[in-house]
Amino acid sequence: MYILAIESSCDETSLAIVENGKNVIKQVTNTQIEVFKNHGGVIPELASRMHADNIFYVYEELFKDIDITIENIDLIAVTQGPGLMGSLLVGINFAKTLAIEYNIDIVGVNHVHAHIYATNIDDNMKFPHLSLVVSGGHTQLIYMKEHLDFEVIGTTLDDAVGECYDKIGRILGVSYPGGVEIDKLAQQGKDTYDLPYPKNDTSLDFSFSGIKSAAFNLNNTLSMKGEIVDKENFSCSFQNRVMTVLIKKFNLAKDKYKPQQMSIVGGVSANSRLRELKRDTVLIPNLKYTSDNGAMIGVLGYYKYKRDGGCNPMDLDVNLKID
Ligand code: KG4
Ligand code: ZN
Repeated sequence: MYILAIESSCDETSLAIVENGKNVIKQVTNTQIEVFKNHGGVIPELASRMHADNIFYVYEELFKDIDITIENIDLIAVTQGPGLMGSLLVGINFAKTLAIEYNIDIVGVNHVHAHIYATNIDDNMKFPHLSLVVSGGHTQLIYMKEHLDFEVIGTTLDDAVGECYDKIGRILGVSYPGGVEIDKLAQQGKDTYDLPYPKNDTSLDFSFSGIKSAAFNLNNTLSMKGEIVDKENFSCSFQNRVMTVLIKKFNLAKDKYKPQQMSIVGGVSANSRLRELKRDTVLIPNLKYTSDNGAMIGVLGYYKYKRDGGCNPMDLDVNLKID
C-alpha cells in the first residue's frame, strides 16, 4: 500500500510517500525556519500563507524522479491536529482536494501520536511501549498497551519543554529555534548558574514556567549589575536542570509501567543529552524524523486505516483535540 502523507501543522510543509507504514520511499520538506529566525519565533498567519504558497511545489518535487504517480497512491494521510489552525487548514484542504479528484481514501491523524510512530520507520514498535514526547508544543509521557492505544500518564502543566528552550534562547539572544543553539552552547559550557530543577518531584507531570521565569530574572539581575551572561555556562546550567528532570521522570514511568520498549520522540529528541539514552530498548528516531515530518504521518495513517478504514473527505476537518 502506498500512502501519500501530508504534514503542515506548524512551520514545516512536509510530504512523504510511505509504503505499508514502514518504508519511506521519499520525503520532501520545506522548512520556514529561516524566515522565522528574523522574527524570533513562528508567526501563525505568516506560516499558513507560506504553506499555501509552497505546498504544491513540495508535492511536485515529491513525485519527481520516482516511478510512483498520484494514480498509484492507495491512501492519503494528513495531520488533523493539534497545531496552528491556519497551517493545518492548508494541508487538510490540499489532501481533501487530491482525495476527491483522484478518488483516494483519506485518513486524518494526530500529530503528537505520529511523532511516536516515527520510531517504526527504522525499528519495529513493540508493546507495552512507553514514549516521552518532547517537542515545541508538547511534553508528554504516553503509555501504549498496543497499537493506537494512547494513554497520557504525564504531561506538562504549563509550557512545553521545546517552547521553554526557545524562550530561553530569546533571552540569550541566540537564533530561533533556541533548542538547537542552546544544546550546542551547553556542550561547550559548565554548570555554574543557580537555576531551579523544574517540578522535581515524584509525579509524572512536568512544569517549565518556573525555570523560564527564574532564567529570565537571573539574566535581568546580572545585566543590571553590568555582568555579562556567559551563554555557554548559562545554557549548560539550564540544560542540566531540564534534562535531569525529564530523564528522572522517564525512568520513574519505566519503573511503574514496566514497558517492553521505550522511545523518545519529537523535536527535542534531537538533544544531545537525550540521544545518549538510545539503546536497543530505547528508540530515538533518525534526525530527519525527529522534527515535524511527513513520513511519521504516513506511518500512523497506515495503522489507523488498517483498524478503522478511511473517512469521507468532505467530513475531514481540523481537529485540535483529535484522539
Ligand atoms: O517536533 P518539533 O519539530 O515541532 C513541534 O511539534 O513542536 O519540535 C520543535 C522543537 C523546538 O522547540 C526546538 O527548539 C526543539 O524542538 N529542538 C531542540 C533541539 N532541536 C530542536 N531542543 C533541545 N535540543 C535540541 N537539540
Ligand atoms: Zn511536532
